[in-house]
Amino acid sequence: MNTQITKDFKDIIYHEFGINFSVEKNFLLECKIKRLIQKEEYKSIEDFYKIIKSGEKNSMEILIKYITTNHTFFFREKDHLDKLSELILKSTIKCPVIWCAASSSGEEVYSIIISLLENDIKNFLIIASDINNNVLQKMHKGIYNIGRLFETSPSIKAKYFKKIDDTHYQIRPDLRNFISIKKINLINPMYFVSQFDYIFCKNVLIYFDSETQKKAIKNIMVNLKVGGFLFIGHTETLLNTKMNVEKESNSVYKYLGA
Ligand SMILES: C[S@@+](CC[C@H](N)C(=O)[O-])C[C@H]1O[C@@H](n2cnc3c(N)ncnc32)[C@H](O)[C@@H]1O
Repeated sequence: MNTQITKDFKDIIYHEFGINFSVEKNFLLECKIKRLIQKEEYKSIEDFYKIIKSGEKNSMEILIKYITTNHTFFFREKDHLDKLSELILKSTIKCPVIWCAASSSGEEVYSIIISLLENDIKNFLIIASDINNNVLQKMHKGIYNIGRLFETSPSIKAKYFKKIDDTHYQIRPDLRNFISIKKINLINPMYFVSQFDYIFCKNVLIYFDSETQKKAIKNIMVNLKVGGFLFIGHTETLLNTKMNVEKESNSVYKYLGA
């Protein structure tokens, strides 16, 4: 790929999705775009770029599908699931509302649900969102490769999943009733009708530069109740966002208000 077209794609991706491909990631970006061109049978990289620039909506969806990194698995960073149950059990809120932002294909949100049910917490609502429609459809179907369940115990597997074949499991369909699925781009301002008690925004800030992290966190925090809790990934930080928060535990923060 020539240097100019790589830069052009980087600019669009940064501007539209906030994802920052630094110079060291040029090769990764080029591989992703070449794969897209081949799989989706576009004439050439230049041709796809022209279609994107013309504003054709489907081409933007295709770009999101190939550019985003959707790696996730069930019961990732399990201490956060235990912490959520602990906080809910301690609080007086009757039906806590949780937002699982950048939730990818649903492993995180279904892990939250299973963990709450296992702690006898049955009254809650969850909004699960991502920028990538493709992963949201996977979440809706709830069918997962066995590789995503390597941290899932046999008893949880037996209770909440149905084995479909040698390599796939399906989540119990009734768990889907707890979730409302939405497509949300975290770099655009958004206001929900009411604020959340808990927000999970994990393992997505790492793809943003510090300016975009600030923007995304601001967009998220306006939707968190004062006294509510934000969960970020174990390797992520709120340091440069200057948010008025108090550390509750590892990568869990209590919001103290604007
Ligand atoms: C690595 S996955 C993290 C999944 C899950 N939160 C976890 O911790 O396992 C990152 C997700 O962020 C989503 N994402 C990337 N940029 C985004 C944006 N601007 N707005 C919303 N979601 C975005 C990707 O589509 C991807 O599914």
